[in-house]
Amino acid sequence: MSDYIHGYDLEEQARLVAQANYWRERLILREVDFAEGDAVLELGCGVGAVLGILGQAYPSLRLAGIDLQSTQIDYARKHLETLELTADLRVGDASQLPWAESQFDQVCTTWFLEHLPQPELALKEAYRVLQPGGRLSLTEPDYMKIRPWPVNSDYDYLISSLCDLLIQSGGSPAMGPRLGPLLESAGFSEVRNQAWGYHYFQTTANQELKKFVEYVDGWLAPTVPQIAQKLGRDPQQLAAGLDFLRQLPHQPDGAITATIFRATGQKPL
Ligand SMILES: C[S@@+](CC[C@H](N)C(=O)[O-])C[C@H]1O[C@@H](n2cnc3c(N)ncnc32)[C@H](O)[C@@H]1O
Repeated sequence: MSDYIHGYDLEEQARLVAQANYWRERLILREVDFAEGDAVLELGCGVGAVLGILGQAYPSLRLAGIDLQSTQIDYARKHLETLELTADLRVGDASQLPWAESQFDQVCTTWFLEHLPQPELALKEAYRVLQPGGRLSLTEPDYMKIRPWPVNSDYDYLISSLCDLLIQSGGSPAMGPRLGPLLESAGFSEVRNQAWGYHYFQTTANQELKKFVEYVDGWLAPTVPQIAQKLGRDPQQLAAGLDFLRQLPHQPDGAITATIFRATGQKPL
């Protein structure tokens, strides 16, 4: 994971917590379906930001999480402790889970499979550790489907370069649309993949466009030096793309549309 595009510094760890808070009602708690006392495992749990939100909203859940990086798990332990939550947190690879089979009622991922060269290996493991009838829930993006209005060639250059960076690091920028067939191939039943649209536009009355642009800026800006360095892209055009994005909430006709995918499936009984 040395090529992981977001890195592991403290600023990035705090960003993951802010990001999960931003998406709390909009996405993380949207259409979830937990029963009292469910055992829930998050693959690629990072700093425990999503687990924290689930644990606060559903205090009876038995939480578990795994991440490849010990620094993420160290942060997650402290973060969940601050929220007075407990969880079975492990350092390890999602494609080789350290749990026996049929241990969990639900397995979930958020912004995770997009970083894996072979997502099918993690899905195979998710299937193994789920009990029959257990549910898998995946939340993943498609970066080319973050579309501002007006159209801007510098922004297009920036976002397609970000996609190339993700591909170079072994990931998949359009993981969302791939989830349905991936779940079918992994043996899940009742497979659904919903494309949820998020659209914000400039109004004086609400700040939604501004908040969304700040959220995208928060993860996009730190990747720009890597894009310039590793892919040799034009730093000035990348900066112009970022500047266009930042100015969007100040444009009278500014708007942005993003599509995020939520796929679910069940391990057959
Ligand atoms: C973008 S972060 C998302 C974290 C969390 N799901 C959230 O939404 O806050 C992706 C995480 O996946 C972890 N990761 C990447 N490859 C992994 C693997 N093979 N097994 C476990 N974790 C992995 C990274 O270390 C990173 O913490």
